[in-house]
Amino acid sequence: MCGIVGYIGTKKAYPILIKGLKRLEYRGYDSAGVAMISDCGELNVYKTKGKVDNLTDYCSDKDVTGCVGIAHTRWATHGEPSARNAHPHYSRSQNLAIIHNGIIENYADIKMQLQTKGVEFKSDTDTEVLVQFVEYIMVKKNLPLLEAVQVALHQVIGAYAIAIVDKREPRQIIAARKQSPLVVGIGQDEFFLGSDASPIIDYTDKVVYLDDGNIAVIRLGEELKVLSILGKEQQLKVSTVDLNLGQIEKGGYEHFMLKEIFEQPECLKNCMRGRINVEGNHVTLSAIIDHRRQLLGAKRIVIVACGTSWHAGLIAGQLFESLCHIPCEVEYASEFRYRNPVVTKDDVVIAISQSGETADTLAAIQLAKQKGAFIYGICNAIGSSIPRATDTGTYIHVGPEIGVASTKAFTGQLTVLTMLALCLASERKTISEELYRQMVRELTLIPAKMEQALKTNEQIALLAPIFTYARNCLYLGRGYNYPLALEGALKLKEISYIHAEGYPAAEMKHGPIALIDSEMPVFVIATRDRLYEKVISNIQEVRARGGRITAIVTEGDTQIQRFADHIITLPDTLECFQPLIASIPLQLLAYHIAVCKGKDVDRPRNLAKSVTVE
Ligand code: F6R
Repeated sequence: MCGIVGYIGTKKAYPILIKGLKRLEYRGYDSAGVAMISDCGELNVYKTKGKVDNLTDYCSDKDVTGCVGIAHTRWATHGEPSARNAHPHYSRSQNLAIIHNGIIENYADIKMQLQTKGVEFKSDTDTEVLVQFVEYIMVKKNLPLLEAVQVALHQVIGAYAIAIVDKREPRQIIAARKQSPLVVGIGQDEFFLGSDASPIIDYTDKVVYLDDGNIAVIRLGEELKVLSILGKEQQLKVSTVDLNLGQIEKGGYEHFMLKEIFEQPECLKNCMRGRINVEGNHVTLSAIIDHRRQLLGAKRIVIVACGTSWHAGLIAGQLFESLCHIPCEVEYASEFRYRNPVVTKDDVVIAISQSGETADTLAAIQLAKQKGAFIYGICNAIGSSIPRATDTGTYIHVGPEIGVASTKAFTGQLTVLTMLALCLASERKTISEELYRQMVRELTLIPAKMEQALKTNEQIALLAPIFTYARNCLYLGRGYNYPLALEGALKLKEISYIHAEGYPAAEMKHGPIALIDSEMPVFVIATRDRLYEKVISNIQEVRARGGRITAIVTEGDTQIQRFADHIITLPDTLECFQPLIASIPLQLLAYHIAVCKGKDVDRPRNLAKSVTVE
């Protein structure tokens, strides 16, 4: 949710911290701040409400000297978004400053105890409680920062990634993680900190992903040290980051979201590379080779995910049932984790997450693990928490997704899930050889068909202004296209702030049809498939009530134009692959409508890219 950056070395910290914050703004952008130990040894904290640009304006006449600093971009959990609640937070003496991502669940108890000892608080945050607690321990027990952090974290319940500086120990940053991501970059006589590797990759490709319960002791002129909370030294696991700058910059597009929509054909090729053979007739996933017994023996598949990833799961659920004949349940991770669900060791639980950090999905994994299930992760962010918490998995390899609205991750997830279903079906012999080959072949053709679908961009940009007046929209689809209707509605909601609902088209007559009038745009995914004729009937029902219909149809369709106000035409493909192609006009519709309404497409209000809190 929040973004953390840190630097200690011989360069000026401020430009490195600000550049890093901009990279991490996707994680939260309601306020931002920096703390730096200046050349004269002062610990200066500057913070502002709003985006990082507000912070740089504010700092333009401030002392931003120094080679040590920490910085933060926030997504509020405790306390309204304001400069007062922004991080970093000072301790009472102003000797310490802290940044934090996560939630300290027992902060109210600790705060009360500290208040009885006379400690006063300047913000409403759980984070300030932590830094005051650390300082209280330092003074009371006469401990240096590292030991005091260890003692404090021992008593803290909750999730955190933190970094603390102490102006009396200016050559050191102490960082720690539990259930919130934190990466340390190792350079030449310098170290970097980040919530992910994106603020680090300009300077070094050597990183250490901290594990839960790790404390990093980052001292200038010394080797990086990683300890457990109890102080036991941990073995350093240095990884090489495989990320380039082009992947995290806009590359000439006006917004990351548009760039990411247009990247999809290339992303899907990357996703399939090395997994589908060059002849295009066979899929292999290493996870299935390595864990054959558990995966082929699955009596049931349970998919856990949130948001867009859950929509990908709903589509995949239909594939697992129809191709592999394995019963499949698709659950919101946030509901699953609190339900005491029936899960056995014969179940395979598939966790889908772009960020690999979603707190509810992680908790659902832990619960399923305790119940003995085999856990398979499908993630995008390499080295994130979910891939590390699962028994096996497959990365979608679509590159960093920066736009808050998920686009390429959705189609990447669908591609991996389809490959998984094909592998399992083939091994379990629940699919004919002919259908298997046809499907694998068609999957390899999807990137080219997506290119064709992207050609609807101009048409959609012209259509978009018509919908900016709408206060509500309906999205309808059936079969594999029903979860896509949910996804289309979610995209519109989150970036244009227009209320939208996705519905299975046939459910209309059981209630929502009452909403239809000439002011309600209805988007229908009506591609040619088994349910095509039924969808036409549903379109007619809407039409008869004066609804304004925009239909997404397959090329060559001659019927639907008689009933629809607008038609968007897509190349034909197999029924189960239609969501891969039809997601493109839905993403473009949401994008252009939001742009027409002047909304901040990449950073919609109240949202963050990575939801590391419940
Ligand atoms: C919607 C969106 C969210 C995420 C959800 C899960 O565009 O991005 O609904 O899909 O927060 O996130 P991940 O996939 O990172 O677990």
